Amino acid sequence: MMTQLVVLISGRGSNLKALIDAIDANELNANIAAVISNRSDAKGLELAQQRDIPTQVITAESNNREQFDEHLAQSIQRYSPDWIILAGFMRILGSQFVDRFAGRILNIHPSLLPKYPGLNTHERALAAGDKVHGASVHIVTAELDGGPVIGQVTVPVLEDDNVESLSQRVLQAEHKLYVAILGYCINENLSIENNRCYTNASEVTLPILNINLSTGKLAC
Ligand code: GRF
Repeated sequence: MMTQLVVLISGRGSNLKALIDAIDANELNANIAAVISNRSDAKGLELAQQRDIPTQVITAESNNREQFDEHLAQSIQRYSPDWIILAGFMRILGSQFVDRFAGRILNIHPSLLPKYPGLNTHERALAAGDKVHGASVHIVTAELDGGPVIGQVTVPVLEDDNVESLSQRVLQAEHKLYVAILGYCINENLSIENNRCYTNASEVTLPILNINLSTGKLAC
């Protein structure tokens, strides 16, 4: 059976596009069963529709957090996904939601976690004078950007970088990272239980993948 994904977005959808392109190129053995957005104006919705992927908008307007999470969970459940992929989904999910899909929600975050959870990561890396920045893919837990990191990509910070140039460089790297990590999770049948990570073969130590952008190589 093909691995089923539900992708959650709030905006532009460039990570979503990277996943769709990888599936189309047979680099990723998966099917995006649906794209769900919490914003009706998310650009990524158009992209999904162009590719004939079912879309749904669930806004939080008249709902409290529990109601929103419940509505979202029910919509996701309809597709029985193997993985729920957060790709620029800008809402915090409550612990009940996270528990319901425990170990099966992946997020991409534009920093080398545990550095800079939350917003404005590029500003913070520049302000700190970091020479290396990057992105992480992690399992979602109830702690914001705090779940186990599956893999990271490092990106050099250049002397004349500003937020725009750095975020662009990181974003390009994010696309490679997300495809690589998701491919690994699917091919190796990755599972997480009690903060321990297993593949088909055996228990593995996290993080599993690091991508060095200057070589483009995956190191396992
Ligand atoms: C990315 O930088 C991602 O790491 C963060 O939100 C941004 C989403 O970009 N969580 P896009 O919508 O995938 O283009």
